[in-house]
Amino acid sequence: MPDVTTGSAIAVRPAPRLRGEVRPPGDKSVSHRALLLALLAEGESRISGAGDGRDVRATASVAAALGATVERSGDDPRAVDYRVVSPGRAGLREPDGVLDCQNSGTTLRLTCGILAGLPGFAVLDGDASLRARPMGRVTTPLAAMGATIAGRAGATLPPLAITGRAPLTPIDHTTPVPSAQVKSAVLLAGLAAQGTTTVREAVATRDHTERMLRARGVAVRTERLPDGGAVHALDGGARVRPLDEQVPGDVSAAAFWLVAAAIHPDAELTLRNVGTNPTRRAIIDLLQRMGAEIDVRPVGAAGDEARGEPLADLVVRSSRLRGIDVTAAEVAAAIDEIPVLCLAAAVATGRTVIRGVGELRHKESDRVAGIAAGLAALGARVTVDGDTIEIDGGRTLTGATVETQNDHRLAMTFAVAGLVARGETLIRDPGSADVSYPGFFGELERVRA
Ligand code: S3P
Repeated sequence: MPDVTTGSAIAVRPAPRLRGEVRPPGDKSVSHRALLLALLAEGESRISGAGDGRDVRATASVAAALGATVERSGDDPRAVDYRVVSPGRAGLREPDGVLDCQNSGTTLRLTCGILAGLPGFAVLDGDASLRARPMGRVTTPLAAMGATIAGRAGATLPPLAITGRAPLTPIDHTTPVPSAQVKSAVLLAGLAAQGTTTVREAVATRDHTERMLRARGVAVRTERLPDGGAVHALDGGARVRPLDEQVPGDVSAAAFWLVAAAIHPDAELTLRNVGTNPTRRAIIDLLQRMGAEIDVRPVGAAGDEARGEPLADLVVRSSRLRGIDVTAAEVAAAIDEIPVLCLAAAVATGRTVIRGVGELRHKESDRVAGIAAGLAALGARVTVDGDTIEIDGGRTLTGATVETQNDHRLAMTFAVAGLVARGETLIRDPGSADVSYPGFFGELERVRA
């Protein structure tokens, strides 16, 4: 257990050394999709190694409320198994009550894509954080496809009420911001459209939905553009087949250990079975560019990737980091890892400039404000200028009380900072870590042993 637990705060003290093996939880993005695609597929799907954070559990509850039998087994919160038996899209039912997506934007936005094409009425809601997150980016295209959507602030904030329709009208949609959730919502709605639905993105985002649809028999056609964008198309009416899925370890969770070891003076950690999908691994490449010593050791036969996601063990050691320039496209590719990358930058020598961070203001909290305030409290030099974060590294961090805005990625970032900061770092409201990484604080104690 952590050194001290005081109600809604955890104290983290510096670790003399970090050693050991960590198996990160099942990938959150893949776990959500595996559950929702199992809901659309008639028959039985088995999902092994899913993450057991609150977000994924919210998706499992939504799948059950829409008519699937969802059985969860296993008591290792890093990797639980699901058996989902679904009547398939045509047999899904109107939910009796409000679908509570809790803190999970992925649950809400992807479910909107499914509900748009289901005749019937449903209401989606979530916690205070989710109620503040922008939903116009999904409600606008789904309404253009024929769904009727009402909600606060002109159907741009939850709760949202959706009356679906089948078939939907296909659209050719350009996403207004780089967002895998928006892309996925429109593609999922496209399954219920009559004709070809196209999604264009200026910056290609994580491709789990496309991979996982293909693996289930749906022909998603993707063209990667030379400027880094992508165009995806699928034909409505395609049947989603049930599939057994092995979920890779979550690289976004692994990122905390990559940074912990890289910034710590006496560290070596081995991270097992981490998903290294090219559209998710940008954090590994960015840290290596900063000088992090990370060995990427692929796991499994070369052909395995065709069936799912590439995997690797990552071995990371104490490193001498230096500041780098991070482009807006790189921010999009490492969107969830930018907070912990900022911590690496605070400890690195030299200046790090991270451009195009605007979307970080619309996550579980305003992460630009949260990371700047928390790192500043620890003694780092952080400047925010519009959508650019500049960090002048090389400071020794000093423990302080840090606010996490109930945001899991901020809580874990500041806990990692506490491993290297002088004195005690008090993390307020650390319980949010359970959203994506139940057991995180236990692992933190284990690797410092
Ligand atoms: C996710 C996409 C990203 C990411 C989120 C998970 C997904 O959100 O931040 O944690 O699983 O599709 P956006 O699509 O809003 O960028």
